[in-house]
Amino acid sequence: MRDNPLVLHVLGARPNFVKAAPVVNALADRGVRQGIVHTGQHYDALMSDVFFSDLGLPEPIANLGVGSGTHARQTAALLTGLEDVMLEHAPTLVVVYGDVNSTLAAILVCAKLRIPTAHVEAGLRSFDREMPEEVNRVVTDALSDLLFATSPEALSHLASEGADPAKVHLVGNPMIDSLFSVLPSLDPAPVQERLGVSGRYAVATLHRPANVDDPASARELVDAVLKVAAQVPVVVPLHPRGRQRLADAGLVDGPTMKIVEPLGYVDFLSLVRGSALVVTDSGGVQEETTMLGIPCLTIRPNTERPITVTHGTNRLVTPASLPAAASKALADGAATPSGELPPLWDGKAGPRIAGVIAAWLRGDNLSPAARGTVS
Ligand code: UD1
Ligand code: UDP
Repeated sequence: MRDNPLVLHVLGARPNFVKAAPVVNALADRGVRQGIVHTGQHYDALMSDVFFSDLGLPEPIANLGVGSGTHARQTAALLTGLEDVMLEHAPTLVVVYGDVNSTLAAILVCAKLRIPTAHVEAGLRSFDREMPEEVNRVVTDALSDLLFATSPEALSHLASEGADPAKVHLVGNPMIDSLFSVLPSLDPAPVQERLGVSGRYAVATLHRPANVDDPASARELVDAVLKVAAQVPVVVPLHPRGRQRLADAGLVDGPTMKIVEPLGYVDFLSLVRGSALVVTDSGGVQEETTMLGIPCLTIRPNTERPITVTHGTNRLVTPASLPAAASKALADGAATPSGELPPLWDGKAGPRIAGVIAAWLRGDNLSPAARGTVS
């Protein structure tokens, strides 16, 4: 046993908070000393604070307040801020989540300081280097000491990139643990009433740079979403990225289009639970709709989460194919092609991850048979 080990979780953006909560809770149950470092990549109350309260996350031990910027400027601020934190706290293990710039920066800092790291959501690949997240995924996995995979195809991606199998643990999906934890409190009625939504409706979330940064792409996207709104009212809890560009492209309030601020976690999932259709370019929302059994149309040429297509309700669409796909989904409802949900998306990923981390902190040699099943 290492002396009084300390685990630090580096979190910065909305999806990080959702993925980390079950791991933090499960480590707390085991009495592990831990702390959250908030990088401040996301800082609006509706992009950050609301997740801490909705998910019961403890106050961060530090908030670096790095804010927004170009990739280089934001990453530079993350690197210097995180280096100071790591030198001050000298953690035994640093846990990072997903594929955002805060994840990448934490891994680089720890690799140089020789601080061991764990990556939750390892091995996802879109094989599309146009996505900044894909670069972050590849680098993060190459440098992590423990690799926690959420779905089986991640194992072959990691193997083909030469990851040491002893580092890899298939644990299930902590984002689904968080969903399960709030499921009993997901009531669509209050949020529908607050937003003035009734009857059948669709929910849309849009924030991928490839969709919203370029004015021509934004216009194509908005035209397609307006064609969905001609079929069913659409509510758009709009991410701050590209807000102006989407508005310039015509994404404005109208009789069948409601543009609202980003929603808190419980409000958002409640709204989705009551919807007939979701249109998105989010990563996490593809997974949540699969578990909630809501048809999901993802406006992207690829996905790093193909299991939501093969074992879920997700379909990839282009702006051109979206209106017809929406009409079909509204007529057919959700269908899961294989009839089976993704394996280990059972609400127990957090405890599995905590089990592996606890064994690692004890210095146990994790045998392949024990991987993913250490309790
Ligand atoms: C980031 C992640 C992306 C993830 C998304 C989740 C990277 C490279 N991208 O994208 O993978 O899907 O978070 O939501 O890490 N802004 C605000 N308030 C905030 C945060 C951002 O107004 O609290 C605005 C700023 O104008 C900022 C822009 O949103 O420039 C983009 O923010 P940033 O964190 O750089 O990237 P996201 O698009 O949020
Ligand atoms: N989400 C939310 N409010 C919103 C939109 C999304 O709480 O208005 C949640 C959603 O349920 C999921 C997470 O944010 O848990 C996904 O974050 P996002 O789409 O920003 O990032 P991505 O998953 O694409 O990286």
